[in-house]
Amino acid sequence: MSPRSADHAPAENPLTPRDAAVSGLPEQAAADRLAFWAQQAGQLHWDTEWDQVLDWSDAPFARWFTGGRLNVAYNCVDRHVESGHGDQVAFHWEGEPGDTRTITYAELRREVCRTANALLSLGLTAGDRVAIQLPMIPEAVFAMLACARLGLPHSVVFGGFSPAALQSRIEDARARLLITSDGQYRRGKAEPMKANTDEATKDTPSIEHVLVVRRTGIDVPWTEGRDVWWHDLVDAQPDEHTPEPFDAEHPLFILYTSGTTGRPKGILHTSGGYLTQAAYTHRTVFGLDADTDVYWCTADIGWITGHSYLVYGPLANRTTSVMYEGTPSTPHEGRHFEIIERYGVTIYYTAPTLIRTFMKWGEHIPAAHDLSSIRVLGSVGEPINPEAWRWYREHIGGGRAPIVDTWWQTETGAVMISPLPDGPAGKPGSAQAPLPGLSAKVVDDQGQEVGRGESGYLVLDQPWPSMLRGIWGDEERYRETYWSRFADQGYYFAGDGARYDEDGDIWLLGRVDDVMNVSGHRISTAEIESALVSHPAVAEAAVVGASDPTTGQAIVAFVILRGGAAGTEDVAAALREHVAREIGPIAKPRRIMVVPELPKTRSGKIMRRLLRDIAENREVGDVTTLADASVMDLIDARLKGGT
Ligand code: WTA
Repeated sequence: MSPRSADHAPAENPLTPRDAAVSGLPEQAAADRLAFWAQQAGQLHWDTEWDQVLDWSDAPFARWFTGGRLNVAYNCVDRHVESGHGDQVAFHWEGEPGDTRTITYAELRREVCRTANALLSLGLTAGDRVAIQLPMIPEAVFAMLACARLGLPHSVVFGGFSPAALQSRIEDARARLLITSDGQYRRGKAEPMKANTDEATKDTPSIEHVLVVRRTGIDVPWTEGRDVWWHDLVDAQPDEHTPEPFDAEHPLFILYTSGTTGRPKGILHTSGGYLTQAAYTHRTVFGLDADTDVYWCTADIGWITGHSYLVYGPLANRTTSVMYEGTPSTPHEGRHFEIIERYGVTIYYTAPTLIRTFMKWGEHIPAAHDLSSIRVLGSVGEPINPEAWRWYREHIGGGRAPIVDTWWQTETGAVMISPLPDGPAGKPGSAQAPLPGLSAKVVDDQGQEVGRGESGYLVLDQPWPSMLRGIWGDEERYRETYWSRFADQGYYFAGDGARYDEDGDIWLLGRVDDVMNVSGHRISTAEIESALVSHPAVAEAAVVGASDPTTGQAIVAFVILRGGAAGTEDVAAALREHVAREIGPIAKPRRIMVVPELPKTRSGKIMRRLLRDIAENREVGDVTTLADASVMDLIDARLKGGT
């Protein structure tokens, strides 16, 4: 199989394929939203047609395509083989050490069938939950699709999360199976994985088996009877498996994300509506041409972007994708550009934090590679600052590729707000407008829409097909978290601030709650605070996100030690390690400041605004609402004292 990119000459008019994908959509969507979505759903294969496009009678619990039945994996895999595209490449996979694997749709089908047969042999039946903690290897995709094929909701846990984080997610979902690997490559080294997952499963009675992929060959602890090697079980299975259709509202996956409290929320997504919107947005936002494009989404499968834009959306659209296992600087800082050149990537979708890292490394690095195949660039995860936007377009996009700045969330399941690639020239830093069929507003405190040139809160005022169907096992928390802030209007509150410009375009302004965005990863202040106070030396902790030129925000923790002790370098280092152990290395505070007191209001609420002033080396703002205004002087004196 030769890479399809070889004969993909950079088109003279790179906008042509997009026209087909987006033409007429806004008009159709405006004319009849539900008919528009029915038409989008109609691009999938349904075993049974739906009765009703949307049932919103039990709001805020939506049901889309009621009565419809489909198999998500069939739609992502078998259907393309049956339509004669078995030889098309689904994934150009590249491992961090440089090993590669080309997976066609026919091969993907065989692998998914074998994996599904293996899961059946372990006694799993539709509705059982499967936890997956794997590096970015093909087996991760096979595992997700095998689960989808059998109606087993998966819960993928990012490979960088700690055993404690994995354990709580397994427990919350009561997963019967864990799929993991012996180890994973990170920055050129084989790091253990199974040793960590064993720590997580020490006390998770719901787990009956652990299916282990051999990736690095490192030694692993083994529990006879429970642990099974992937190559022993999966490779011995038959290549054929007949998929069974499931209800459109059958749970497809749970994905845990940070909220404003310490406990991560299991965001629940279902089948028909999710796949419809993931596929629709993927082909529309990037103007996909399945016959010629080579698409690369750099997200890890542990995040929603990996679910919707590395697995489900692209595969439903019969995309040829690149999947890369490792870090962007291994073995050198040109790794991504080398990959773009090698496979002739036409669509590249990444996060602003990586773009800013590339900027830091220098433009001579992309300049040493032929990136002329690039046709569209995408950005996701946080607001993209105009400097990064311009650099991205100039040095990766050859000064011509449009940038689609896509706003969405784990909860929305798929993109909601984004420019269209053939739309009016992009505005650096603006996600612009909801896609056809979708709706969003910027409102004030009372839920009234603000005017042009004004800021407020971003809300979603209409249900959408890939919306979360709830928080796993916690109906009340779902209502409370998303629907109580603007209950009168029935709006979904996203937690983001936003502004309309003079043209009515939307600019995202970042979170307005206690959720931080570090390198495009959502982390809650409360989660880190509870990890800190679980350390025996800590009496109290407050965490803030301080703005950072590369990572967007950096985690800064203020802690009061037991007995009022002053901090030392050792204490700070121990606390950082403790957080890494409790949550994962991504949650490690950049700085820990040991303070004698925390600034609180009379009702006992910590005033993070003042802590943020300190963390960002600013003059401290208005302190009049503090219960004790002298606290700030005490903190200042202690910090100047050098701890
Ligand atoms: C932020 C990631 C500005 C936002 C898909 C949102 C963005 C949170 C953008 C969701 C963007 C994501 N511009 N902000 N283009 N994309 N965000 O759940 O604050 O990991 O609420 O989903 O990321 O993060 P999550």
